[in-house]
Amino acid sequence: MTATTRLLDLARKRLPPDALELIDRAAAAAASTGTSLYLVGGVVRDLLLGRPCLDIDLVLEGDAVSLAQDIGAGDSTRLLVHQAFGTATMRGEGFSLDLASARSETYARPGALPAVKPGAIEEDLFRRDFTMNAMAIGLTGKGRGKIVDPWGGQSDIENRLIRVLHDRSFVDDATRILRAVRYEQRLGFGLEASTASLLQRDIPMLNTITGDRIRHELDRIFREELPERALRRAGEVRVWSGLHPSLDRMDWIADAFRRAREAITPLPLPLCYALFLSHLDKEQASAVLTRLSAPSEITRVVLDTLAISASMGPLSTAGVKPSQIYLMLRGFSPQAVVASLATAGDWAAVRNLHLYLSKLRYVRPSLRGDDLVRMGAKPGPGLGELLSKLHRAKLDGEVRTKAGEAKLVRLMLSGRGIKRRRKAKRTTT
Ligand code: CTP
Repeated sequence: MTATTRLLDLARKRLPPDALELIDRAAAAAASTGTSLYLVGGVVRDLLLGRPCLDIDLVLEGDAVSLAQDIGAGDSTRLLVHQAFGTATMRGEGFSLDLASARSETYARPGALPAVKPGAIEEDLFRRDFTMNAMAIGLTGKGRGKIVDPWGGQSDIENRLIRVLHDRSFVDDATRILRAVRYEQRLGFGLEASTASLLQRDIPMLNTITGDRIRHELDRIFREELPERALRRAGEVRVWSGLHPSLDRMDWIADAFRRAREAITPLPLPLCYALFLSHLDKEQASAVLTRLSAPSEITRVVLDTLAISASMGPLSTAGVKPSQIYLMLRGFSPQAVVASLATAGDWAAVRNLHLYLSKLRYVRPSLRGDDLVRMGAKPGPGLGELLSKLHRAKLDGEVRTKAGEAKLVRLMLSGRGIKRRRKAKRTTT
């Protein structure tokens, strides 16, 4: 059995059946026109590594959009055509398959989106980030049954090395700096020596990348099983300072992610950003958020987290009442409370944040406004005040049952001179 047949055999076993059916249809359509179709990039790498792969890329030396339209989508797959990019995506149950035309790329300036023109598979592979991602398996046409591996991806995978294809790779696209660290930590690989020094040299090139593109790569780090590994490693090699001078080493980050996962799994992205930026002050964090063009939901959770840490003093005071904890935290996003819990150093604060998340935020009195009105309270601001007092008493455990609440309400209505409704007055007099 040749290496390619072995890989194709593995693909038959590992890829989802619906994806295989689409690949077979694409291969039949490409074969009928004599064009060459390839499995490329991450899927080849993952097959070689024996890892699962649910993002499958196919490259055609021809018109990929027409091919995608020819084969159409299956019963349970959706076809999305991106005419402007000459690509098509098919999404099925738990997988996504991209079909693109083989192309070559040139970069007008560092960090710019590349100018693209049709090319051969080798040119398509040459535009890629690392040797392990620059391989293809031929399914039809002249490449059928061959592994195309012009830069030694297989040998780098065997030696567990991440290697760029040329020394301007990080200059062309500095997001590859973040990708390198992500793959290194995900796969337990090392950076090949000259790749490591090019990465160091080119950290300032992160300046050439838009906020959206950097954030997109950060999102991908946060979606890794253990994001803290890449975050910490990037800190060690001083990548973060290329993003903003206030960001540096992240020796504490593993602990924060582990503690946050104990509260929520999987971690929502805004919470990951809150952990990532939790050691900055408000001004520094705002500068990073602006640099990343962060959407409002992320900004809110990050800034809420910093606001909570500014009130950590009262939160860790001995004897702070549950109602005070509730009032301090109720205006903040629960994700920010989790981020604060995961990064707090003070034991009492941790306990109080946990109490809020697990219990206090759900506590509500059994009696509602209507019930209080029926008991004689006058609708209006006074009623709101009465309800908050009742809520606080419930939070502090001063009342526990509905009967206990009713007793307190009656006491407040009589004892504190809160005006009763006229009708109620009439009936009592
Ligand atoms: N690629 C690249 N440079 C980038 C982004 C992507 O060269 N900045 C190439 C790589 O060949 C990569 C392919 O495009 O394999 C697909 O990109 P992506 O989906 O980001 O990577 P995957 O290999 O699928 O990685 P992952 O396993 O993280 O999804």
